[in-house]
This record gives sequence, structure tokens and C-alpha cells, in this order.
Amino acid sequence: MAPAPPVPVITSAPPSLWSRFSKFVADNKTLIYTVGAATFVVVSGAGIYYVYYKKSSSPTAPSSPPAEAAPETKTASEKKKAKKEKRKQKKEKERQEGAKESVADEQSPSTETKPLAQPTLEEEQSDLPDVSDEALASVSPETRKEYSIQYKNAGNSEFKKKSYDKAIELYTKAITLSPDAVFYSNRAACYSAQEKWAKVIEDATAALELEPEYLKALSRRGNAYEKLEQYPDAIVDYTAVCILSGSPNDPLSASIDRLLQKCGEIRAQELLRTKKRALPSIAFVTSYLDSFHERPIPPEVSSASEVSGNYYLKLGMEAMEKKTVESYEEACNDFNKAVELGAENMALALELRGTFKFLMADNQGAMEDLNKSIELAPCVQAYVKRALLFMDLSDPVKCNADFESAIGLDPTSPDIYYHRGQIHFLLSEFADAAKDYQKSIDLDKKFVYSHIQLAVTQYKLGSTSSAMAGFRRCIKNFDKTPDVFNYYGELLMDQQRYSDAIEKFDQAFEIEKTQKTSGINVLPLINKAFVLWHYKQGTVQEAEELCKKALLLDPQSDIAVGTLAQLVLSQNRMDDALVYFEKQLELARTETEITQAATYIEAAKTQAKLIENYPQLKARLAGMSQGMGM
Ligand SMILES: *[C@@H]1O[C@H](CO)[C@@H](O)[C@H](O)[C@H]1NC(C)=O
Repeated sequence: MAPAPPVPVITSAPPSLWSRFSKFVADNKTLIYTVGAATFVVVSGAGIYYVYYKKSSSPTAPSSPPAEAAPETKTASEKKKAKKEKRKQKKEKERQEGAKESVADEQSPSTETKPLAQPTLEEEQSDLPDVSDEALASVSPETRKEYSIQYKNAGNSEFKKKSYDKAIELYTKAITLSPDAVFYSNRAACYSAQEKWAKVIEDATAALELEPEYLKALSRRGNAYEKLEQYPDAIVDYTAVCILSGSPNDPLSASIDRLLQKCGEIRAQELLRTKKRALPSIAFVTSYLDSFHERPIPPEVSSASEVSGNYYLKLGMEAMEKKTVESYEEACNDFNKAVELGAENMALALELRGTFKFLMADNQGAMEDLNKSIELAPCVQAYVKRALLFMDLSDPVKCNADFESAIGLDPTSPDIYYHRGQIHFLLSEFADAAKDYQKSIDLDKKFVYSHIQLAVTQYKLGSTSSAMAGFRRCIKNFDKTPDVFNYYGELLMDQQRYSDAIEKFDQAFEIEKTQKTSGINVLPLINKAFVLWHYKQGTVQEAEELCKKALLLDPQSDIAVGTLAQLVLSQNRMDDALVYFEKQLELARTETEITQAATYIEAAKTQAKLIENYPQLKARLAGMSQGMGM
């Protein structure tokens, strides 16, 4: 119900993007074809798309289907015959109402497999017809078919006794006599038992060529693909089984879930090995840096001469204040040089280098720098930054310890309380968050973000009127701060006051534009797009235009990319969505984000392949969505 928490400044936990994305999927739950625990196919209108949505990881996901499932006892033609028979009988039954005659049992092979009346094996072998070339020369196709069934049945007996080589031989004879999907599939079952996966794939594929919707062959092949670690192929086959069988509770769905995740992880690991670390969206960098009180450049730094580390420290600090993409990159390099050249103010140089490493999601490097900085000369900001880092690393105990150390150094620093408030906020501990924001305000009432956050927190606590009053005060006192308007807009959006919200987003963007020529925060544009599209206050096209504009202004904006991905998905533009998913992957910073983006891509690709292999599924899925009350 609530929009993504308007946290203007957070730890490196991803901003509203992912929560919003999940929310998007959650909102469309009715559109989602639920297969077991995992929800993985999003159906929309006539087209379909496939979105992977992981509710919770289930480590005990059932594994793939038993490879040695009993072999099929009936051939396709036998089954067809049985069905026809059944239909005929049903009609018959309807005609002579009350008749006691039972319907032919499809499941009971004895009624079908008349040629061979359950003999013992020895008899069976000796009873098998002569299939030498001479013997077959004068035999009719019908008889060949009958012979083939006898060989298949003999093969089944051997299979049951786990004599797989013998069974394979018999099935092979059956295939030579008269090819049938069941024979191939049964032989695949033998190879499966022998763990000859490539052979399984070959035979299952042959079976599927004869009978494209043969579920047993599909799941057998899927299992073989999985064993050979050809996960995308396995996912396609498993998904086809789930959809073709129309059984949402198929245990295979858990396998699909697991394999998609695995694919995502594999791709993510590859990427993490080669990925060059880069700074995230300018809005993210600026809001993180602005969340700390500005510190003046120390005099010994600003007077440093050209060859020293302190000189680069000065350059870096000056570049940081320019708040542009280029200047942040410069600052990054400058702080590196400052440390390498051995700045006089080493603690400061290390802290700032660590700050940029943190922004680039290099948590380990950031930790090392901050540790050294604190060792050399502890200061409040270094402690607070390390606290946020510990939060990122899911270590709340050390996080708290660093806040305590910071308080020990200077209990009057508003930064401490503001950031501790942010942590409480992220953990949904709103009462504690409010206390900390208030304390930060008491120490410095000019720090706008504490005011914004306090108002938002009051809203979360249910005091809508205090929240609104808080924002009105903010607008009066900080009328040049775009964030005030943006987050006020989000609050209005949550109260369904859409046109008021749009007005605030417009104002926020206007202020941004008049203040900056580069490094513009595009969040208000995206929020506006979201209202236009999600709350149907405009057209999808308008929303898309806004997001594209945002992306031009901030090409690193993951929120713009994520929103665009959703927008094109909602229009069933799968190819475009894939482009944005790839872009999302490129922009993803943390391992979690990377894995998630990679998983979406795998899901999207699987979907495309699924439709390619089974064009008939497209219509079926559309039909299914109608069945689900769309
Ligand atoms: C940094 O210091 C923290 C807190 O003392 C410690 O837990 C951590 O292991 C240190 N990490 C590194 C990389 O030095």
C-alpha cells in the first residue's frame, strides 16, 4: 500500500528500486501464474511475460524428478485407442443409463496389452517374434507394430528388474520395428538410470519430435539437462511440463525456482569477477555525501603544495563539492593518490577514499580504509560510515558499537543521530527513528534531511497530520531544497492525492533544474512517471517518455532503468524489457542486486525460448490468465 519508503539518504541498501519492483510483482499477483511456492510467470493481456519473483528462498526445495520413473506401458497409439474407447464407452453409458458396465480403465495395462498376457520373463523372451530381415519381409505394418509392442513390454519387464542393458536392447528393437515416442522415452529412462545423460537427451528429444507434449519425456530431458548443468534448457523443459500439465502444484516448480536462482548466481559470479567498479547514480552519490555535515578543508590541506599527498586531498575535497559525475570521479582518483603519496592528514584521506570505495560497493576495501583511518585518528564521520558499512554487512552489533564510539567522541554531533535514525527506519523501528531524528534536529535544526525523515517517520507511525505539518514547515524553511518537494510528493501519492503529488514532483524538478546544470537528481521525474502509469493518471507513453528523459539526464539511474523495465513489460515488449534488464545488471552494485538482475534476465530469456519451442503455450497462458479472473 505504501510507496517505497522515501529515504532520501540511506546506507548503500538499494533505494526504492527493488522494493518497488517487488511491489510491482506483488501488485500483479493475480496476474501471476503461481506454481507451487514460486511465482514465476506473469501473464498480462494476450501476451505473456515471465518475471521471476522470489518470495523466500527454500533451501529444502525438492530436487528434480526421479530419473528412474517407471517406463510407460502404452504407446501413443495405444493411448489414443484407449481414449477413443473411453469416449465411446462413455457415450454408450450415457445412452443406456444405469448400465453397470464399467469404463475401460486407461490405467490398467492388462486390458490394453493383449498381445502379451503377463508371461514370466523366460517365456517372454522365447515368445518374442522373429524379427530377422527375412521374417519381417512379408509382415504387414500392423503386425510390425504389434511386434514392437511385444518388444516394448519385454523391455519394461527388464527395466523393472533393473537390467537396463537388456531393456535398452529390447526398446531399440521396438523402435526399429515401429518408432514410437513411448519407446524412445522408455529407453531414455534406462539411460537415465545409467546416468548417461547425453543419451537421455537424445532419446527424449526423439520422443518429443514424435509427440511434442509428452510430459514424461520432457521432464526426463529436463532432468538430464540439469545433470549436465545446462540449466536454462532444464528450466525450459520443466516450465513446459508445469504449464502443459496445468498443474500449478507440480513439484517441478520448486526445481524451476531453484535453477533460475542458480543461473542468476552463476551469471552474477562471472560478472563480479570481471566487473569494473564504478560509481553509482549521481543522485545516490550526492545524497549519500550530503547526508553528512560538510567539513571545512583543514588549513594545512588547503595550503598544501603540488607534490604532496595533502595537495591531492585538497583537490579531491574541492572536486567533491562540485557534485558532478566527472568531479566525483576526479575526487576518487585524487583520494587514491593522496593515500599513495602519504598525505599528512592520512586519517582524513583514508576516510574519504573509504567513502568512495563504499559508494562503489567495494565493502572490503572500504572497511580496510576506515579501519586504518580510525586507528590513526578516530573521528565521528569515520565511525558513522563504518557503522553503515556494518549494517550493509548485516552486523548490527558492530554497527551499534560504532555509533556508541561516535557518541563517545562527540555526543553533540547531529550526524550520529540522523544516521542511527536511518538505520532504525530501515529496520521499521519507527519510534526509535523518530527519537533520533528529533535529537539530530535539536542539535542542528538547519539540517533539512532530519526534518524530512522525521515527517516521513511520523507518517509511518500513523500521525498523518504531524507529518503533513512537518512538510509544510519544511517547504517554508527549505524552499530551495528539491528533496523536500519530492518526498512530500511521495507522501501525497500515498494518500492518493495524485494531482497534488504531481505538482510537487514538478516543483522538485524545476528547482533541480534551476540549481544545477549537471548531476540532476531525476527521482522526481520517475516518481511522476510512476503516478502517471501506476495510478493511471496519464498514459504509459507519457510515463515512458519521462523515464527516458530521466535516463538521459542520469544514465546511471538504476531507478529509471528499473521503472522503464516495468513499463515495457506492462506492454508486453519483452525484447525491450530484456535490454533494460541488461542495463540494470550493468548498473547493479551489490552482489544481491547483481544476482537479482541476472535472475530476471535468465527468466526473461527462458520465457522467450519457451515460447519459441512451444508457440502454443502463448495462447494457453493467455487462456489461463482469463481463467484466473483477469
Ligand atoms: C575492521 O575493524 C572492525 C572493528 O574493529 C573489525 O571487526 C574488522 O574485522 C576489521 N576489518 C578489517 C578488514 O580490518
